[in-house]
Amino acid sequence: MKKRTKTILLSLLAVLVVIQFFQIDKTNPESDPAKDFITLENPPQEVGELLKNACYDCHSHSTEYPWYTSIQPVGWWIRSHYRGARQHLNYATWGDYDAKKKAHKFEEMAEEVKEGEMPMISYTWMHPEAQLTDEQRQKLVAWFAAKEKGGPELPDSPDIQDDHEGHDH
Ligand code: HEC
Repeated sequence: MKKRTKTILLSLLAVLVVIQFFQIDKTNPESDPAKDFITLENPPQEVGELLKNACYDCHSHSTEYPWYTSIQPVGWWIRSHYRGARQHLNYATWGDYDAKKKAHKFEEMAEEVKEGEMPMISYTWMHPEAQLTDEQRQKLVAWFAAKEKGGPELPDSPDIQDDHEGHDH
């Protein structure tokens, strides 16, 4: 091995050793069950389980940190996903969102899942149990879309008549 190559490899190794001292913070923020998405939105059981399996690890405060997050820079990279995920959509603080924001988030959830953007591919490599089948995607998307429109648990009200009808103004 050339001396130069050896020096470079040794320096790289030294860097890898040193960065192991900069471990990520693995404490989860507290969760208030009264603000939790599943508690508040009460999805069908299957939808709730899919969300827990495929989304909650990143988009809530119930994050689990696998062993490889203790290896840097892998842990830094994964933590950046958790941070980004909670900033964009946090199921643990769903109760703090106003109605408009909720509707918008439901729209985005439907979009992301429909297009296969979520759960993130790099996540399902390591968590095959989070992989969604086409059928599961459709179920999620249908429920998100119905919720965006204010349903589906709201009763249909076909017998409420438009009482402006027939009046002259
Ligand atoms: C690996 C962690 C991870 C998992 C698992 C995951 N997401 Fe995400 N999600 C992110 C990150 C990070 C972002 C921020 C945007 C980006 O980087 O693409 C995001 C963004 C989003 C957004 C966009 C919000 C916005 O305001 O733009 C939606 C909606 C979303 N995710 C829904 C879901 C749903 C639904 C699931 C489960 C089916 C899921 N995500 C699973 C990491 C994750």
